[in-house]
Formats: sequence, C-alpha cells, structure tokens
Amino acid sequence: MTVDLLVHDAGEVLVGPDDQLLEGASVVVDDGEIVATGPASEIEREYPREEANRTIDAAGQAVIPGFVDSHTHALFAGDRSDEFAAKLRGKTYQEILAEGGGIHRTVDAVRGASRETLLDNLLAELDVLLAHGTTTVEVKSGYGLDLETELLMLDVIGEADDRHPVEVVPTFMGAHAVPRDADADAYVDRVVDEFLPAVAEQGVATFNDVFCDEGAFTVEQSRRVLEAGKEHGLTPKIHAEELARTGAAQLAAEVGAASADHLLLATREDAEALFEAGVTPTLLPGTAFGLDTEYADVELFRDVAAEMGVDAPAVAIASDLNPNCYAQSMGFASTLACVGMKLPPTDALLAATAGGARALNRSDGLGTLRPGAPADLAVVDAPTAVHVPYNFGVNTVETVVKGGRVVANGGRVVHE
Ligand code: NIG
Ligand code: FE
Repeated sequence: MTVDLLVHDAGEVLVGPDDQLLEGASVVVDDGEIVATGPASEIEREYPREEANRTIDAAGQAVIPGFVDSHTHALFAGDRSDEFAAKLRGKTYQEILAEGGGIHRTVDAVRGASRETLLDNLLAELDVLLAHGTTTVEVKSGYGLDLETELLMLDVIGEADDRHPVEVVPTFMGAHAVPRDADADAYVDRVVDEFLPAVAEQGVATFNDVFCDEGAFTVEQSRRVLEAGKEHGLTPKIHAEELARTGAAQLAAEVGAASADHLLLATREDAEALFEAGVTPTLLPGTAFGLDTEYADVELFRDVAAEMGVDAPAVAIASDLNPNCYAQSMGFASTLACVGMKLPPTDALLAATAGGARALNRSDGLGTLRPGAPADLAVVDAPTAVHVPYNFGVNTVETVVKGGRVVANGGRVVHE
C-alpha cells in the first residue's frame, strides 16, 4: 500500500505508555498520522519499502515520539546571564525578583522590543527546540504585564505557530508577577476585568496560568484569575508549590486545572487531590538544577498514582525554558528527571512525550506512536531510546518528523 513515509528497521521504537518499547520495528505514516507501528518484518509485508513516497532507514537507531514540552516561557527579550553568576554567589531567585530583577527585567526588555524582534527571538528558540526533538510546545505570555504587551506576546506566539513547524500552544499568563509599584489586588482586578475579556475576545490563548507563590500571587488572587479565565473558556494551569507551600495544588484541583507545575513542596494530600481531579502534575527538573534546589518528589506522585489506579505516565516533565532556566532540550530535561529525581529512563521519556500531551489536555494520541496519533517523531542516532537521557550534553536527535514531514535533520531545521 502506498504511504507518505516509512521509518523502517529501527533498533528500537518507543510507542507509548502501554506498548512501551519495540525492538526491530518500523513506523508507517500517511496523511500526517501514524498508520501502524510494529515489527519491521510484518510492516514490510503490508507496506513494502518501494511503495512508500519517502523512507528513512533507522537501522541501529531509536525512534521516539516528538517531545511535548508543556511548560515554557520561550518568548522573551533581553539577557539575564548576569543573574546566573549572582545566583552562584548565593543570591536566591526570590531576592532577585524582590529587588526588581528576574521577571521584571525581562518585562522591561519585552516592553522595549519591537514586534519583529520578539517574533525573531521566538522563531530562533523554536528552531533549537525542533532540532532537539520537540514537536509541540506550550508558550506563555507574562512578560508584558500590561494589556497591550500581553496581547502582543500572544499575537507573536500565534504567528510563530503559523510560520514554524513546531506546534505552539498559547497560554495567557498575565498573572506572572505583580508589576513593580503596583498593588497586587488592583492588578488582579485588571487581569480579571480587562485582560482576560480581551484575550478571550481575540481567541489567542488556550490556557490561563498563574504564578501562585510567595512573592507572586496568593491562593485567593489566583483563584479569582483562574475562575475568571474559565468563564471566558480558558483552561486553568498553575505554577504551584515551588518556592513556598501555599495551597496552590489544592486550588488546581478545585478549579480543574489541566496541570499543576513545579510542585517541589507538594504533599501526599496534594498529590491525591490532583489525581482525583484529573490534574497532571508537571515537574520541571531544569529549574531545580539551575537554581540548585531540591527536585520534586516524583516517587510520591508515582506511588499515589499507583494506589489510585492512574494510567501511566502519572506525571509530565517539561523544560520550563525561560531566562531563569535557559534550557531548550527535553532530552536534557529527561536526563535531569533520571539523575535528579530517580525516574527510570523510559518513564522519563514517556513523561516528556505522552505526559506532556496529557498536561495539555490532548487526547488525540499526541506524544505516542500509536495508529491515529499525529505523526510527530524523532529519530535518535543511538541504538536505544535510553540513550536520550543517558548521553547528556549533546543532541542525540538526528531527524525530526512533524505531521508526517521531515522538518529537521542533523541539528538543523529543514525548510522544504
Ligand atoms: O516557571 N516561576 C515563574 N515563572 C518561571 C520563571 C520566569 C522567569 O524567571 O523569568 C518559572 O520558573
Ligand atoms: Fe514557569
């Protein structure tokens, strides 16, 4: 049978949470979707190589689903590399933020940047993400903190999605920080009364996220923002239990968030409430690594998930790409999930693919290589998928396919 693409004879294919790893397997793609994934000999009988419009010989290589990076602040301007050095000298993230640095500096830079610069910046980040195997990425606004700049960010995110092979999922995050010299409650009033209606009217965001933490927004303020977003059709997400334990995870459960993210300080009760409400815990090991703090307790989430019968993968991992955590590679995030959190390698990869899809409320098979799923995959130049976390500090991804098209090769985006 003629098909668009045949990725054949892979040493190993990571199919998805239940089917896991197949040795000596091929993947059949047609019309942007996975048609079949199975043993190479069986696939060859039904889909002979000569009849495929395009073939990729993956002998000696591994094939994994494209990474689904469900938490980034990938659109920004400016440079905060000096904060990296300051943190090494002992300054904390909170101190930098309280002194008007951190997010506030990026807000200054974004407000001062042209639309063209912002778009160029995001497209450049997307090139790097794609070359490292990420085929779907969530990108948040939140470096505008005024209506005009928040809408500009969302507009740029939408245009980047149109122009770039990576699929970009837009999240409004007006409540990312209390603007300098603003009163928190008064700012929340504006987010609720002005920003959210405008964002909803323009149809430029899918999710609505809040930084619910010490030095940012309280649980009460966050609840107002998330409830108001829901009234406008935006699905809640929340930065929860990162710097202080505030009750943000319980709020995520209460409002039915798609995900609760960070969760360094979450408790067993928090994990139970999240799974009970169908919220995907999203862990960001790059942030812990960059700040040299404790990692989230993935064992806790996995134990509770097992007790409650939650399907694997119980959690998502994401990059948290932002100027405080300047790391685009989901392969490296999976390394950190293994080394920092002791997540088994295959589970780390599942959390970075199918887990990310769940954190974005996707139920179309995204993040798997099962029949019917979007044909998003990465061919890894290594004998097994475990090499992705195992071989860190380099890009092991050779070829990237998005929607059935080859979009990156040898570390570079392919414009065909
Ligand atoms: O997820 N915690 C808030 N937001 C980001 C950091 C953004 C920044 O520092 O610019 C995060 O880590
Ligand atoms: Fe974040």
